[in-house]
Amino acid sequence: MAIEITSKYLAVNKGFSKQSEKYDEEDAANPILQIWRTQVYDHVDSFIKPSSSILELNSGTGIDAVRFTKQGHNVHCVELSDGMVHEIKKKIELNNLKSSLTVQQLSYECLEEVTGKYDYVFSNFGGLNCSNKLTKITQHFHRLLKPGGIITWVIMPPICLWEISWIFKGHFKNGLRRFHKNGVMAHLEGQYFMTYYYSLNDLKKAFGKSFTLLKCEGLGALSPPPSANNFPIKHPKIYSALARLDKQLRNHFPFNRWADHIVATFQMKE
Ligand SMILES: C[S@@+](CC[C@H](N)C(=O)[O-])C[C@H]1O[C@@H](n2cnc3c(N)ncnc32)[C@H](O)[C@@H]1O
Repeated sequence: MAIEITSKYLAVNKGFSKQSEKYDEEDAANPILQIWRTQVYDHVDSFIKPSSSILELNSGTGIDAVRFTKQGHNVHCVELSDGMVHEIKKKIELNNLKSSLTVQQLSYECLEEVTGKYDYVFSNFGGLNCSNKLTKITQHFHRLLKPGGIITWVIMPPICLWEISWIFKGHFKNGLRRFHKNGVMAHLEGQYFMTYYYSLNDLKKAFGKSFTLLKCEGLGALSPPPSANNFPIKHPKIYSALARLDKQLRNHFPFNRWADHIVATFQMKE
């Protein structure tokens, strides 16, 4: 049975539940998203130990969770939306994953309700940008992580060169939207809710001194975001050139901080 979602999360739940019906289909059909997921997997695979226990926040329909279970890891998903949770449950049944994949319908801002100890905490594709205060989440990591535990968050930062370039097309409001310190109203499937953008420095502050930054890389520092999914088809040569540049620059300042998303990995000091 679905949990009772408080009014604070109602619009997020409704918007993402509506999106959940077509989420996997649209994800699979989007070439940029596929490339980005591979980049995120390469990043995580370079840190994660075999047979790890993963706590995945805002897991959506469970695309990454299923992939991790297939790699031999165990995954516990925390996801808010009714529709997304329904999709994960379908995947658990369909792939016979009851012993390696579980889901808890919950906001990641209520992690006091999660039990167990994990090797890895993972969050992909900006789900955490719905939180107005990252310490609501990080405050639980000392209890939830095993010694030396690792966290990888894929989150949207305030500076995205591709979006800023919209200014030159006259779209000032959208081009500068990420700079609003107090958040921006997002619109999804007829629902409106606040989103917040976080720099690597904001992440460092939220994790505090007992966590070390291991790596940060950019996703889409120069190449277009998934919403421009026709770009690689219309301009294959330009897209390839930008993607090649991204690959060379994404681990270097400022392109490991100025991008559509950043992939940041921290480790808890032992
Ligand atoms: C853009 S989707 C990303 C889903 C998934 N990580 C992926 O890579 O496909 C964002 C997800 O964050 C979830 N979400 C937003 N706010 C949340 C919260 N407070 N607690 C848990 N999940 C949340 C949404 O329901 C949605 O499934």
